[in-house]
Amino acid sequence: MPQHQFTRRRALWLGLAALTGLGTSTVARTITTAQTALRNSPAASLDKLARQTQVTGEQSLRQRAKAKGLIYGAAARRANLFTDPALAKAYQAECGILVPEWELKWSSGDARLRPTLQTFDFSRSDWMLRFAQSHDMQMRGHVLVWHLGLPDWFEEQVNRQNAEQVLVRHIQTVAGHYAGKLHSWDVVNEAIEPNNRRADGLRITSWLQLLGPDYLDLAFRAAAAADPQAKLTYNDYGLEYDRPDHDARRRAVLKLLEQLKAQGTPIHAFGLQAHLEGHETRFNPNKLRRFLADVASLGLEIYITELDVIDNRLPRHPTNRDRLIAQAYEDFLTVALDEPAVKLIVTWGLSDRYTWLSDFHPRSDRAAVRPLLLDANLNRKLAWHAVARAIDQAPSR
Ligand code: XIL
Repeated sequence: MPQHQFTRRRALWLGLAALTGLGTSTVARTITTAQTALRNSPAASLDKLARQTQVTGEQSLRQRAKAKGLIYGAAARRANLFTDPALAKAYQAECGILVPEWELKWSSGDARLRPTLQTFDFSRSDWMLRFAQSHDMQMRGHVLVWHLGLPDWFEEQVNRQNAEQVLVRHIQTVAGHYAGKLHSWDVVNEAIEPNNRRADGLRITSWLQLLGPDYLDLAFRAAAAADPQAKLTYNDYGLEYDRPDHDARRRAVLKLLEQLKAQGTPIHAFGLQAHLEGHETRFNPNKLRRFLADVASLGLEIYITELDVIDNRLPRHPTNRDRLIAQAYEDFLTVALDEPAVKLIVTWGLSDRYTWLSDFHPRSDRAAVRPLLLDANLNRKLAWHAVARAIDQAPSR
């Protein structure tokens, strides 16, 4: 769909949403835009647009994705699946792949994969793999190397002398433990930060300071040796919009991927986190399409790895907010799934009952956030229908 239709449709929603209490200047500007949009576009009533977002049939996202040669799944926390049978049932029904949100990080949430420098605790991550396997779901590993989610002992006990051994041993042990059992690994996460002003665009992290830029190649080679079957992925965020910061990040990511491929690093896929911003209207389908095509031209698969919609700057009213959120999902996925190299869609959670955004991007009005596909009562939302439509209309792989 040409960009002007995207803009018009979002302007319409934002205009209607504006009636529910954004700032006066925003309201005035947005209503004008929405009125213009309404004048120029078919007089689609809200109900009609809402009806348009419903899909026919009861098939789950897992079934719809499989029919197109895609995989759909979601991140989850063992703590939630273990204590919430209704949630576990929803994951079994909707997800063809599971991503441990906490359990395969060095240290995150209630999980301590790395209790000490010398030890590993696979109890929680093994539980997640058993859950996935018992429901015929695949599992993807997240994440072997990240500058966040490091245990308290890391800073005191890892230094230039032992850093390489610590990194390689972690990857050999963890990727080796699950060798042959995972769809893919996020080997390195969020290594780009143009604001750190390095010529190579790399983020200045503990790993970079301890090992230099070659830590990425080192990590991928260790992962390939430990698990020759898993698809090895570089994962990053802030790449979806027509904004100067996202332009810079897309350039830096492409430069990194080109460098890794040119030096023979064993990388198979790029992970686009896709934490969408519900209020953002600077979405340029052609820019996103071009970026994905450039990544694919390197011979890489593309995974949408952490899809959700940040709604903390959207109107409070759930009906309007849900429509804007659904629109953001559909606008993004309609473009992304046009790229044949896109093989996987993972949402960062499944139900509004549990989302990292409650803590990391809360609403100033303290209303519950509504970023995901099922509501807090596990009912399918407009967002679920938007994702289902985008999958149903995607070209088969
Ligand atoms: C987040 C989890 O969802 C939180 O529960 C945790 O406290 C911090 O990490 N990008 C990533 C994910 O790659 O690992 C992050 O997950 C969200 C941002």
